[in-house]
Amino acid sequence: MSSKAQPDVTIRIATSEDGPACGQICYDAFSTISAAHGFPCDLPGPEVAIGLLSMMFSTPGFYAVVAESDSRIVGSNVLAEQAVIHGVGPITIDPKLQNAGVGRKLMQAVMDRANQKGAAGIRLVQAAFHNRSLSLYASLGFDIREPLSCMQGQTRERSIPGCIVRSAKPVDEVACNALSRQVHGFDRGAELAQAIWEGTARVVERGDRVTGYTTNLGFFGHSTAETNIDMQALLASVESFAGPGILVPSRNSALLRWCMANGLRIVQPMTLMSTGLYNEPAGTWLPSIVF
Ligand SMILES: CC(C)(COP(=O)(O)OP(=O)(O)OC[C@H]1O[C@@H](n2cnc3c(N)ncnc32)[C@H](O)[C@@H]1OP(=O)(O)O)[C@@H](O)C(=O)NCCC(=O)NCCS
Repeated sequence: MSSKAQPDVTIRIATSEDGPACGQICYDAFSTISAAHGFPCDLPGPEVAIGLLSMMFSTPGFYAVVAESDSRIVGSNVLAEQAVIHGVGPITIDPKLQNAGVGRKLMQAVMDRANQKGAAGIRLVQAAFHNRSLSLYASLGFDIREPLSCMQGQTRERSIPGCIVRSAKPVDEVACNALSRQVHGFDRGAELAQAIWEGTARVVERGDRVTGYTTNLGFFGHSTAETNIDMQALLASVESFAGPGILVPSRNSALLRWCMANGLRIVQPMTLMSTGLYNEPAGTWLPSIVF
């Protein structure tokens, strides 16, 4: 049981009008917990959180819920439903009301939704220093799958011999989705198509074949490749990584060491967790902050 008396809480679907209140709570929750542990906040300011949540609350492919207590919004949660695996986050609770059961209710709401929609599994990425979120997700059935290192900087090597990196085009979708199915057992075609449309997606070619792709090199993009060489070519192709950084699976020692030897710095440790279907990836990959 939570240490505080449990407040009366109602969960309802989020609307775009909830964006400002939820975005402010999102920023307050992340900045408070990060500062308490001496880490930089994932979000530069409340306006970024408000923009992010307002977008998620009004875009098809996201299922968003808010928690209300005494007719006041006290937290929110989002389920990304674009792939057969659904992803959770951001979930944030007003710091004054944390550890009183609100987060558990918001997690249960999106897990129920994913089950109703027949998702093969649910995944999320958690700040490894945060005892409370780790405990909450583990008690809800999420397994720890991968320690991650959030990394930022610019690689000293600016290209990899034999690899060509270029912007992804709609014609690349078939090869990229096939690669994702080969590595992960499922594709993320909707996210890829969106990223190609937005102009952030890239592919790497080796021997006239697509051997890797990224939707965006940064916090909100995922990347999948046949080998570390292909991933290194993608990483070397950009000036910097969007947001706090890329998420490197820490057990991929060769890639982690290559990143550090190339001048990238570890910003913070994170953890990928999952329920339901999970295949050990058969290739090189970087998850997004969602999964
Ligand atoms: C993480 C967060 C969403 C959880 O929501 P919450 O309302 O505070 O959490 P809840 O009270 O519903 O659940 C916390 C659970 O962890 C347990 N817990 C907390 N600290 C613990 C610890 N050190 N060891 C073991 N269990 C612990 C609590 O007892 C509770 O379990 P219970 O329901 O069985 O009593 C919220 O604290 C938050 O917004 N944090 C800041 C932002 C953030 O980190 N978001 C998550 C991003 S991945």
